[in-house]
Formats: sequence, structure tokens, C-alpha cells
Amino acid sequence: MSWTSEAPAQTGADTVAIGVFEGEDAPAGVPTQVGELLESGEARRSRKALALTHAQGKRWLIVGLGERESFTPERARVAAAVARDRAKEISTKVLCWQAPSADRGVVAALVEGTMLADYSFESHKSQPKGKPDADSKPKRLEGLVMSGDGVLEGVVGDAEIVSAAVNEARDLQNRPANDLTPTALAEHARMLGEEIEHLSVETEGRAGIVARSMGAFAAVAQGTDEEPALITLRYEGVGGTSNRIGPAHPLLGFVGKAVTFDSGGISLKPGAKMAEMKFDMSGGAAVISAMAAIARIGLPVRIVAVVGATENLPSGRSVKPGDIVTASNGKTIEVNNTDAEGRLVLADCLCHAIALGAEQVVDLATLTGAVIIALGSTYAGLIANDDAWAAKVTEAGERTGEIVWRLPLHEEYDELVKGKYGDLDNAPEGRKAGTITGATFLSNFVGETPWAHLDIAGSAWDLGRAYVGKGASGYGVRLLVDLARSHAAG
Ligand code: BES
Ligand code: MN
Ligand code: ZN
Repeated sequence: MSWTSEAPAQTGADTVAIGVFEGEDAPAGVPTQVGELLESGEARRSRKALALTHAQGKRWLIVGLGERESFTPERARVAAAVARDRAKEISTKVLCWQAPSADRGVVAALVEGTMLADYSFESHKSQPKGKPDADSKPKRLEGLVMSGDGVLEGVVGDAEIVSAAVNEARDLQNRPANDLTPTALAEHARMLGEEIEHLSVETEGRAGIVARSMGAFAAVAQGTDEEPALITLRYEGVGGTSNRIGPAHPLLGFVGKAVTFDSGGISLKPGAKMAEMKFDMSGGAAVISAMAAIARIGLPVRIVAVVGATENLPSGRSVKPGDIVTASNGKTIEVNNTDAEGRLVLADCLCHAIALGAEQVVDLATLTGAVIIALGSTYAGLIANDDAWAAKVTEAGERTGEIVWRLPLHEEYDELVKGKYGDLDNAPEGRKAGTITGATFLSNFVGETPWAHLDIAGSAWDLGRAYVGKGASGYGVRLLVDLARSHAAG
């Protein structure tokens, strides 16, 4: 991955992608064959159209981009993914993109779209024995060169860090639950803390969770033999103003649900698709990988992140429907459905982040099936107790293509989550407003702190976009990095 101000023909790439906008000629300096193909109609300018020609010892991939006015970074991600797929078909090793615009967002998006589309999860396939067959091609590009004017080297470098972090999160998500245990996730986070400057990581197990009176988190974790993990990451960026000194830069808090396998517990889920519940740690994975990216870029901010990792399994020790547990803020919870475990884990993690000084909190969780019904995979659900903070999160989503749609809080919903015997009910009867009642439950653990909850159950996997189709999407990493970046700027 590199940036160059040289023309594509001067780079070592074997394939060059050239974007063309509706109503415009081929960019200056490209081989005449490109223009000829456009003229003949073999190459088209409409979105996702592709054509190929050979010149100057390279392959030239002509990529339709549609109208320039409506060309957004998200469209650039899709165009990059479409181009990358074709490039791989023709065994491209090093791809060069001639930047079709000097817009920083577009250049970053081309890097993201290429790198995200170039991802595959192979680590659990056994190595084929003997000689690989002659036709087998490497799965990934060896390199990507961005060519264009201006000083966009930093943009490309940062986009590479962010894209690698998204792919890291996808690796964590895709790893099966017998491999990625809570302990393994904690170990991964600890390694990042050792590797990356200004990032520190602490992890605690069952004893720590119990000692901190995290009775809700502990209740979920009590059914499994696997050690749970409370993972706390702190990033102290150079130049990040202290929350004690500068009110302009409050300490950010990121919180993630990392249920490494959610069987439902005693309220067991049906068998169909239960295997997908290895992805129930996606919120935590996004938080950990985003923290790594933010620290690698070196953004001038301060963030505390809390990830609650556990399995949710049935056993003779499991929490049972009707049990009443006490969260670390003293509130009592009737566990009427052990499958509503994410909100129990998050309740204590939210309290912990705020106790550690977080002044603006965002949590990411695959919390409810209901959000998939409401929004599909297009938008993540956003629920917030503060309009200004909700707007910041929404804007970060728009800039990164990880778009969110806000759902309301209301005092009538507060009634739905009230307990009969305890303060709160983790799973109100009936199917009313499932995503909102999940968030309303969580709102009991943040007090007055500005807080935004992202329900990513519909977006964490099988997103179905050109640059992330099936499997883990790493959703939320880009949004969180952008949120930190705008926090640093504002
Ligand atoms: N992890 C699930 C939510 C989920 C379901 C995510 C499907 C992705 C796909 C969560 O722990 C859960 O089971 N939620 C319940 C809550 C209910 C019992 C109140 C749900 O959504 O059914
Ligand atoms: Mn569940
Ligand atoms: Zn769950």
C-alpha cells in the first residue's frame, strides 16, 4: 500500500483502475485505448460498469463511476470493491488506482473499499496437501498504489490503518467460539496494548468481575466454565486535553458487548442459525480494533474503553428465569429471559466506563433481533439520551458509510422495563419495541452522562455490500475512529 504522485504508468502496478464519470472524457494522460473504448461504447460510465484494455505493458480497468455530483465516499467504496474483484479475476498482483477526485474522503474510501473487499478468512482451513493445482491463485492483492495529485499521503496511510483494523475486527468475529474465547479476546487486546504506544490494556477474570459487584455481568458468566473477561483499554493521545482541564475535550467512553457465544442460556435459542451467535462479540471486537486504529494513527484524544466478554451457556450453575441479580450501581434486575444477556453485561460495563471518568459514552452491541426487523442491514439502530451527542454519532456514521437511524426513548417505555419483584425486568413480555426496550434498560446505567447506544445486530455480519458481503463486517470500527477524529478536531 503506497501513495505516489507519479502517473499510473510509472508505477510498478500490473493493473491500473481508471474511473470515468458520466459526461466526462477519460482523464488526461491515460493511454488512447481508454478513450477509444469509451467512444465505442465497450466501456461505459455508468456505476459499476467495467471494461478492460491493454496498453504500455499494463492492464487498464475502466470503472464507471456515474454522475460526479452524486459520487460519495460510499460509492467510491463500492467502485473500489467492484474493480478489485475484476482485478483479482485477471490475477492482478499490484493494483494502481488513479484517484478520480482530490477529495480526501474519496481517496480514503478507495483504499477502504479495496482492502475490505480483499479480505478473506482462511486461518481455519487446513493447508492443501501436495502441490497446489496450477490454477490456484493467491486470494489477496500483493499491493495497492494510489496515484494522484496533492498531499494525500497521510490520508492514504490513515485509511490503510483503519481498513486493516476493520479486517482485524472481522478476524476476531469470524473466529469460532472454541477458538476466540473471552480469554483469547482479552489476550488479543493485551497484545495490542503491548504493541501500540499510548494504549494500555488491563483484563480481569471472574474474580474481578465479582469483586467489582458486577452482579449482572457475573450472572451471565456463571453458567459457563470459560473464564469471562472484563477488558479495559485506555488511550492517552499526545495533545489530547484532559477532561479535568479542558471541557472542550471530554473523556470519551467506548463500551462493547462481547458475548463470544450466545446460546441463550437456560432460555435456549432454537438450533437454526445458532452457530451465528459466535458473532455476538462483534460490538466488543469493533471497540478493541477501533482503539488500536486510533492509537496507531495517534489521534490527539483520550478514550477509555470497556469490553465485557463472556459466553452465555446453560448449565447447572446458570442464571435462571426469575432470578434477581444486583448490578454494580445497586439496581436489582429480574432475569426473566436469560437470552437477554447483552443488556446485563453492558449494564455493568457502562457503569464501569462512567466510573472511570467517561463523559460521553457510545456502546456497540448485537443486542436485539428486533433491530434487524426494523432496519435490516442498512442502518444500525441508534438510541441516545442526548441530542448533540446523537448528532455527532450520526454524522460519523454518514462520513464512514456506517449509517445509523435514531429510535426514541420515552417515559412510557420506562414502564415496560420495570420489574415486578426487582427494579428492572431484562425482558419485558410481548414484542413491543424490542430494540427500544433494550436501550431503555441500558439507560438505567448511564445516569445523566451523554450516551449513545448502537444496536448492530443487523449490520455486524452478512451486510451484503459490495465491499463486505457475507460473514463478519467489522461494523463500527470506521464510525468510532471517525468519532474520535471529529472529537479531536472539535
Ligand atoms: N444476541 C442476541 C440478539 C441477536 C439476535 C443478534 C439475532 C443478532 C441476530 C441477544 O442476546 C438476544 O438474544 N436478544 C433477544 C432479547 C429478547 C429475549 C428480549 C432477542 O432479540 O430476541
Ligand atoms: Mn441473547
Ligand atoms: Zn446476545
